[in-house]
Amino acid sequence: MNGSLKIFSGRSHPHLAQKIARILDIPVGKSHVTRFSNENLMVQIDENVRGADVFVIQTSAPPVNEGLVELLITIDALRHASAERITAVMPYFPYVRSDKKDKPRISITARLMADLLQTAGADRVLTMDLHAPQIQGFFRVPVDHLQAIPIIADYLQRRDLSNHVLVAGDASEAKDVGRYANRLRLPMAIIDKRRYDDSEQAKAAHLIGDVRGKHAIIVDDEVATGGTLMEAAAFLKEQGAESVIAAFTHAVLSGTAVERVDASVIEQLVFTDTIPLQGKESKKFEVISVAEVFAKAIRRIHKGDSISDLFH
Ligand code: R5P
Repeated sequence: MNGSLKIFSGRSHPHLAQKIARILDIPVGKSHVTRFSNENLMVQIDENVRGADVFVIQTSAPPVNEGLVELLITIDALRHASAERITAVMPYFPYVRSDKKDKPRISITARLMADLLQTAGADRVLTMDLHAPQIQGFFRVPVDHLQAIPIIADYLQRRDLSNHVLVAGDASEAKDVGRYANRLRLPMAIIDKRRYDDSEQAKAAHLIGDVRGKHAIIVDDEVATGGTLMEAAAFLKEQGAESVIAAFTHAVLSGTAVERVDASVIEQLVFTDTIPLQGKESKKFEVISVAEVFAKAIRRIHKGDSISDLFH
């Protein structure tokens, strides 16, 4: 791409944007947001972007809807300022769990997000570990889908992994956990989750595989309320696991998730910084930055190089 590479940041995760820009050795572009008394937002780009290859970094973090509108308005402002190409960099994609019509008369909101981004003027999207990778198909523009597996697996490999087992919290996670298992050359187990009534609460019913006397690592794409994780961890202990930790990409950690984790049998939570912690803290947290992998991907997209090479 001929135009110069520029990074802009929304207000959702400026720390990550700064880290990415520092690795790329460029400053974060100048822009500002005005919030009017009627709660309307205005974004102004405070430097020339004519002909530039622009990457706008905005993750999904509270206040999620405000951040989303801010991103759409920023893309629109860049489009009208004659940026040559605009990539929406969304480390955690909003509404990612709303990807199918599994109840009557509901929206497929992840699809709507794709439409909105394209209407605003996004030429590409760069994201990480979508809850369902087929969400990429909601877009008519290219989507580069990064994986946290290499960096999380590298981190886990620093410990003695003998006598460890990777665990999928339910069968739908088995494929992803299988990738970790291949990479780390560890056995895996799957929790068979069942719903016995109409309540939202799924119960761990059976275990496929063996955790007795082993150190279990529960792997998932995200932890939100922590309900799935708590249920899985308690079940693994009942099944004789020696210890339980969890590794996942997106730390949504909503509601009382942190307190629940602190009070639980889980000894450590290993996750990435796709979402800012916004003051949440626990001695059990181990945060791995995705800044480098995003910076590398941005550099490659800008130069027209392969992204999949990043995951070998
Ligand atoms: C479910 O399919 C996902 O992989 C996560 O397990 C889920 O989103 C976690 O949500 P929560 O922490 O609220 O149980």
